[in-house]
Amino acid sequence: MTDTAVDSLVISEVAIERGGREVVHGVDLVVPPGEITALLGPNGAGKSSLVLALSGVIPVARGSVAVEGTVVTGRKPSAVRGAGLATVPEGHRVLKDMTVDDNLRVSSFLLPSRERAAAIERVHDLFAELGPLGGRLAGSLSGGQQQMLALGQALVARPRYLVIDEMSLGLAPIIVRRLVPALRSIAADGVGVLLIEQFTQLALDLATTAYAMAQGRIVVEAPAAELKAAPERLEQAYRLA
Ligand SMILES: Nc1ncnc2c1ncn2[C@@H]1O[C@H](COP(=O)(O)OP(=O)(O)O)[C@@H](O)[C@H]1O
Ligand SMILES: [Mg+2]
Repeated sequence: MTDTAVDSLVISEVAIERGGREVVHGVDLVVPPGEITALLGPNGAGKSSLVLALSGVIPVARGSVAVEGTVVTGRKPSAVRGAGLATVPEGHRVLKDMTVDDNLRVSSFLLPSRERAAAIERVHDLFAELGPLGGRLAGSLSGGQQQMLALGQALVARPRYLVIDEMSLGLAPIIVRRLVPALRSIAADGVGVLLIEQFTQLALDLATTAYAMAQGRIVVEAPAAELKAAPERLEQAYRLA
């Protein structure tokens, strides 16, 4: 393992089974700190299964996940979070019957109590439009605001790495654009972001390195700028998978 890898979120040879069938077959992927890494791929490629396995929600059948050298494979979701890896699952899941502020407070409980207020304040800095909504029930927010809150819930745990599954799914492009400055700012803070996207263009604009998965395997790994200049490479890789 190189020095860069020890400073990163490193996914090595990860295989995942679902419903008695292997759906992810030995994926290698490195998420360095302080930048956005994109993970692209068609429906059914295995992206969400990888996210669930990274966060400890479903088991890893083979391989390992390490956060800056600390192996978290097989740990419970709370322990994975405690090791610095937070995920935002597909479909901006928030606690709809609780207020916006309470959603953030619940997620800050992993932090020492003296750090909670500052962590919540940082979320308000990133998503200024959540501030005046603090007393509203999360279920009454728009889709874009719920996605901000879901990102905020992951961020209050002060993760070193943030994995976001289908950030733009179901959101209008104009709303997605409101999330972009926050993503850049999170990476500028030193957090390594793995952005899983169906909107290839957005992901390639933001990312340094891009991976693409198809049929449970990584089929492309390239600088995002190279893929942006040659989008046919993705289509070709998906056809051959
Ligand atoms: N709960 C589940 N039980 C069994 N198989 C599943 C389940 N969820 C997803 N799969 C299968 O796993 C494969 C990968 O799906 P998924 O990880 O959701 O891909 P993606 O997020 O890239 O669309 C697909 O073949 C899908 O049918
Ligand atoms: Mg998915």
